[in-house]
Amino acid sequence: MSITEYKPGLSIEDLPTELQTQEPLKLASNENPLGPSPLALQAIRDNLDTLNTYPSRQLEWQLRQAIAASISDQLGPEHIVIGSGGIEVLEFVARNHLTRPDAASALPRQSFPFLARYSGRSGNPINFFDLDEEDFSYHPERIAAAITPGTRLVYVCNPNNPTGTYTTATALRHITAVIPDDVLLIHDEAYIDFVDTPDFPDLLPEVLAGKNLFLMRTFAKIYGLAALRLGYGIASPAVIERVAGVKRNFHVNKLALVAGLAALNDAEHRQRTIANNMAGKQWLTDQLTRLGCRVWPSQANFVLFSHQSVPAQTLIDGLMALAIIVRPAFGLDNHIRLSIGMPEQNARLVKSLTAVLQQEIGD
Ligand SMILES: Cc1ncc(COP(=O)(O)O)c(C=O)c1O
Repeated sequence: MSITEYKPGLSIEDLPTELQTQEPLKLASNENPLGPSPLALQAIRDNLDTLNTYPSRQLEWQLRQAIAASISDQLGPEHIVIGSGGIEVLEFVARNHLTRPDAASALPRQSFPFLARYSGRSGNPINFFDLDEEDFSYHPERIAAAITPGTRLVYVCNPNNPTGTYTTATALRHITAVIPDDVLLIHDEAYIDFVDTPDFPDLLPEVLAGKNLFLMRTFAKIYGLAALRLGYGIASPAVIERVAGVKRNFHVNKLALVAGLAALNDAEHRQRTIANNMAGKQWLTDQLTRLGCRVWPSQANFVLFSHQSVPAQTLIDGLMALAIIVRPAFGLDNHIRLSIGMPEQNARLVKSLTAVLQQEIGD
């Protein structure tokens, strides 16, 4: 599969019918295993009998205000654009910045492929760069080499999907130094809520300074609202105005708006999500390592691993036969991206993987 033909992960419903009876387990789409924020669910219930009316403009404004306030008191609604999922927000940026047919993007090959897919469809040129072969870091000189006079967008995913690795504040400064001022840097922060390291970049000062920069985030992961489709971008008012210019009215539905507002207040659900992720990530890393896998350090809600002797596809097929869905890592041969689940789900994954490995290598 080429990188521009990104296919979303399988759903439980996609499993062969005979396997669906075996309590399918999906650890493939980095969803929140705790479920949605209870406060968001309550807000949805409270609004069900208003579905006959269009969402008000005020509601969207309120959500933008609440998102801004949840990040910094220096941000306001004018710094925020919301979308039907982070993907729609990325699409707004692409539609806006890739208007000319020769407008190009500089994109990492081993990363979230939405923009590659967009450009694949629109016919806009893509200049790919590779991440480091060993530790998947972004190399400023490779990014610089991928920037041409026609380049309008550079994409950095941090923490990076599918590797889980991250770019430090210092490393990002080296990257921004090679990007011309008139080229927009998209910093995809879909997994920022799971970050647990002091040297992760804080780009708000750059946004407030009016830099040509766009931060993307989502309610799909930390708030467990993937099905509702809600994401947002943070940028200077000038960039937001430009990006938001392409959106149509009512592009985010009312239930998503009220659920998003409520979820922002759900500190308890957020903390439980982070605690479960931290503990599960450590446990899975230890267990996979014990089973002869190489596991990359992750700052996200998933881990990337490969086995020293058994091909990834053999493991994926073996797990699938036990009704467990995991994902080949896009852009990377022979690696698996595994989402962190609840403790009992992680335990089932390890038990099943042990059985598959025993069958393959007989120990
Ligand atoms: C790196 C990255 N960016 C963006 C998105 C899109 O988020 P959403 O589900 O809100 O569209 C995802 C979703 O998995 C992601 O992993």
